[in-house]
Amino acid sequence: MSIQLLMLLIFFLSFTQGGCMFPSNHWGEWNDSQLQPTIQKLMKGYNRYLRPNFNEGPVEIGMSLDIASIDAISEINMDYTATIFLRQRWRDSRLVFPGNESVSVDGRLVSLLWIPDTFIPDSKRSFLHDVTVENRLIRIFSNGTVLYALRITATIACNMDLTKYPMDKQVCTLQLESWGYNIQDVVFYWTRGNDSVKGLDTLRLAQYSVESYYTSVSEAVYETGQYPKLVLHFSLRRNVLFFILETYVPSILLVVLSWVSFWISQSSVPARTCIGVTTVLTMTTLMMGARTSLPNANCFIKAIDVYLGICFTFIFGALLEYACAHFYTMQHQTIEDLHRELLREFTEANGNGSIPIVSSRQPNQSVEVGSPAEEPMVQSMNSDTKNPAASKEKVPSQGCGLSSVKDAARRAASIFIVENPHNIDRHARTVFPLAFLCVNILYWLYYLFL
Ligand SMILES: *[C@@H]1O[C@H](CO)[C@@H](O)[C@H](O)[C@H]1NC(C)=O
Ligand SMILES: *[C@@H]1O[C@H](CO)[C@@H](O)[C@H](O)[C@H]1NC(C)=O
Ligand SMILES: *[C@@H]1O[C@H](CO)[C@@H](O)[C@H](O)[C@H]1NC(C)=O
Ligand SMILES: *[C@@H]1O[C@H](CO)[C@@H](O)[C@H](O)[C@H]1NC(C)=O
Repeated sequence: MSIQLLMLLIFFLSFTQGGCMFPSNHWGEWNDSQLQPTIQKLMKGYNRYLRPNFNEGPVEIGMSLDIASIDAISEINMDYTATIFLRQRWRDSRLVFPGNESVSVDGRLVSLLWIPDTFIPDSKRSFLHDVTVENRLIRIFSNGTVLYALRITATIACNMDLTKYPMDKQVCTLQLESWGYNIQDVVFYWTRGNDSVKGLDTLRLAQYSVESYYTSVSEAVYETGQYPKLVLHFSLRRNVLFFILETYVPSILLVVLSWVSFWISQSSVPARTCIGVTTVLTMTTLMMGARTSLPNANCFIKAIDVYLGICFTFIFGALLEYACAHFYTMQHQTIEDLHRELLREFTEANGNGSIPIVSSRQPNQSVEVGSPAEEPMVQSMNSDTKNPAASKEKVPSQGCGLSSVKDAARRAASIFIVENPHNIDRHARTVFPLAFLCVNILYWLYYLFL
């Protein structure tokens, strides 16, 4: 049987040299007349420009794939680069030869045979490896089945939805279509259904893991007709651990660092300003670093942007908190100075120091930090019922010009002042961590489970 195979090979070689006729030179120890009928029968009238089953329905082409590697998955270009072994098999009844063995033919002889015009519609760039020879294989079985295998590296487009980046899952496809033969001429099928694709389970990717994959058969519809199409779908889940270590943990620590300022005395302006400004600047750097590997022309907001935005808001809020607290402290002192001065003038003028103006502002009187503007309304409503100090001071001040000026000044100032500016820090110590915790819970619930 091996003689037959060798002769088949030799025949192909002679065919390339331009001769369809079997050369009449000496064939070593082999007997020409035994082999001649097989070869002649095999290639008799073979026309490589005509597909198999030319007048008898479509030729069925079975495909299977081995994914050797997926090298680069690029979010910027929205594509991936894969090296695949593509195997196609079909039956060409013109190539039947007696026996039950197969023959592997030199890859260069592929130009003598009809081969399918399969292509990858989404590929941006692709090439066939040619070291040391073109990486293709042709094997012809005695029943006429032809196996044609290729090693291809292709960069294939994959539309990515990055709104949940880096907690995202991308579904990419690898499509195989027939370029010129429509469904009346060629039918594609996966040789073993979902098992036709090998190598995805064991693939090691830098940033992703292959979650699942399956194959499907469909048709591509173009203006020129319907073409057979095979699709491999695979979903990739990003490994979020890298981002947690690289971006999330540092930004959380920065937010916590910004809270340190609440425990520092308000009088140490350099310390608190320094913490505030440093954390804001570091956060800005972090935000810029997080978006280097991503397409920023797109308008979508990614999950990581949302998180960094939240952290930035908190850090900025901590800085503003100090600005407010410091401002109110200064104003508080100014108001107290004003009161003291007015009281002194009043006592000098009347010789009567019994009106307790300053004492109406108890340091422990609780006023909401966030709404200092409500204070005058509440005070004016309750002034004659609940606030005995205020009513007491009102009665003797009637008719006195100086005291009405003082009263007006007090009311105007009370719009902007907070009872005890140190309360701002005290409340911030609980409000900021609690709010950050709540926002975190909402964030992780939304992006991990919705
Ligand atoms: C070749 O085969 C034919 C038929 O089988 C036989 O008649 C002939 O003697 C063989 N020639 C040699 C050189 O073996
Ligand atoms: C080819 O067929 C013969 C007879 O049926 C059998 O003995 C032989 O083992 C087969 N060879 C192969 C490789 O299948
Ligand atoms: C042809 O032979 C190969 C190898 O023996 C076998 O796998 C294939 O199923 C056969 N094809 C047909 C159409 O019989
Ligand atoms: C392949 O897997 C997909 C998804 O798991 C399933 O829907 C489909 O029926 C499977 N196909 C075959 C031929 O097993």
